[in-house]
Amino acid sequence: MTDALRDQFGRSIEYLRISVTDRCNFRCLYCMPAEGLTWLPKHDILSYEEIARVVEQLAPLGLRRLRITGGEPTIRPALARLVEMLRVVPEVEDIALSTNGVRLPELARELRDAGLDRVNISADSLRPDRIAVIARRNLGFDPVTAASAAEAGGLGPIKLNMVVMRGINDDEIVDFARLTLNHPWHVRFIELMPVGGLRELTAEHIVPSEEVLERVAVLGALEPGGGPPRGNGPAAYYHFAGAPGSIGVITPMTHTYCGSCNRVRLTADGRLRTCLFGDHEVDLRTPLRADEMLEPYFRRALAEKPKEHALLQLRVGGLRALSEVGG
Ligand code: 5AD
Ligand code: SF4
Repeated sequence: MTDALRDQFGRSIEYLRISVTDRCNFRCLYCMPAEGLTWLPKHDILSYEEIARVVEQLAPLGLRRLRITGGEPTIRPALARLVEMLRVVPEVEDIALSTNGVRLPELARELRDAGLDRVNISADSLRPDRIAVIARRNLGFDPVTAASAAEAGGLGPIKLNMVVMRGINDDEIVDFARLTLNHPWHVRFIELMPVGGLRELTAEHIVPSEEVLERVAVLGALEPGGGPPRGNGPAAYYHFAGAPGSIGVITPMTHTYCGSCNRVRLTADGRLRTCLFGDHEVDLRTPLRADEMLEPYFRRALAEKPKEHALLQLRVGGLRALSEVGG
């Protein structure tokens, strides 16, 4: 049997985030400049067959969970075909999708039938006019409709992710928290991170998670726990007594989780990134297209996985946008 993949700090890699495209139908303030980014040429993007080969070769080394991301993954044609290909890899226990939700009403059922387990939906506002400002696009998106469609399509437990920005959407923190009183949804408040060249946002827009928790307490006392069954990621969960849903906070700016980080990322152009922050990347596309075995490249990538990120020391704008690296 092959050894499980472990890095020099003893962390094993069970979780792979797969970016299937760097493009998006939104231009969220905290993610992309209004004019978009320089998109990857089509030939540089891994085909679904190539992505499946990466997963097939990584799976025997300990990989168990996958998350499909972008950019916006649902704008890549026939995404359900990729889900089908990943679903048949025997070691893979869980396949999730991170999406802005715009296409979920139309795609939820098809993705579920292809073998998708669940979705995370980005939802930064419940007000259509404000979504159009934050996403810089008016696509008639309504997070509650998207989440309900996903739930009806069998893609629960539903997670809704809100990036909290002071003066932009922080007045909706309580409205989002209230959703957990009536729906079995997990609403996660994410601290804004200063990645990519964000021109409209500064450190003043960051709302610390402690403040979020204080503000939602107007709805009742929060008790620890109540998060989704696979709540072993970076969120800390709370719930209101008797509520079907939960509140999660994700605090990349005030805490680091690096010591328990068990994830790596595959970029749309086939690079394996072992840390979201910093430039540790190993090119898998070249060996993949030369029909080489990938294991030595996986081992090299892991050997370079940093102990922790240095986000707080990095200057704003010095990093690739999250849509480029797969969130
Ligand atoms: N700060 C915090 N979260 C971000 N995301 C993207 N960019 C940022 C950022 N600058 C996360 C959010 C969003 C998902 C697509 O990626 O969770 O919902
Ligand atoms: Fe698109 Fe998500 Fe980035 Fe918004 S945050 S522009 S939805 S990739």
